[in-house]
Amino acid sequence: MKINIAIDGPSASGKSTIAKALAKRLNYTHIDTGSMYRACAYLALKHDLRPNDEELVDYVNKSQFEFNENGHILLNGKDIDSKIRSKHIDLLTSTIAQNQAIRSTLVRIQQQMAHTKGYILDGRDIGSVVLKDAELKVFQTASIESRAKRRLTEYQVKGIDVDYQTIYDEIKLRDLQDRSREHSPLTQTEDAHVLDTSDLTIEQSVDQVYRWAMELIEERRDTND
Ligand code: CDP
Repeated sequence: MKINIAIDGPSASGKSTIAKALAKRLNYTHIDTGSMYRACAYLALKHDLRPNDEELVDYVNKSQFEFNENGHILLNGKDIDSKIRSKHIDLLTSTIAQNQAIRSTLVRIQQQMAHTKGYILDGRDIGSVVLKDAELKVFQTASIESRAKRRLTEYQVKGIDVDYQTIYDEIKLRDLQDRSREHSPLTQTEDAHVLDTSDLTIEQSVDQVYRWAMELIEERRDTND
């Protein structure tokens, strides 16, 4: 008996890390929807287009979005994962994600990808739009301070030179853009379990979501017996 799991939350709250580990434990498929919006920012840069250009929507509509076995995004068959995780792409993505024509194309693709059970999708609008009927919805948060510290470490590991205050300010700006946009803003649905990861390790966070998932899976198994 498989279920679908929606994980939403603000930037750098660790959704993808938790979703990936959970998918491995449950033998489910993880889809990092943020990387699809990031791929659209990559398309804009590549073709020198602005977030609201009609031509960008055309490129998005004509493109193929897939994931390989490592969870890397393939844009038109090419692995672009290493090119979409920069500070510049972070902010541009958040602006492009306000474009409703782009959102509806990506939402349709995501719904096609997760048309059966056994999927974990993470993003901003999964529980509210993409998988409204997901059996388990998680809203993952963390304080801005802990999110900024995590992102700083990620950049340092990659050798990117950036200071804490810049990252802190950018996360705040992205939170504001993601929460206040007109279309599908980041919102916590009433039926979501809240997971504050500020003081939790990755393992503790995964354990908590795993427990919630197993409770639901077992409940469904019992009712089907
Ligand atoms: O990794 P991080 O949490 O920083 O960002 P992400 O999940 O890769 O998402 C990048 C951006 O895409 C976000 O700031 C959102 O603006 C947008 N996004 C969205 O609008 N809807 C989604 N389902 C996923 C991402």
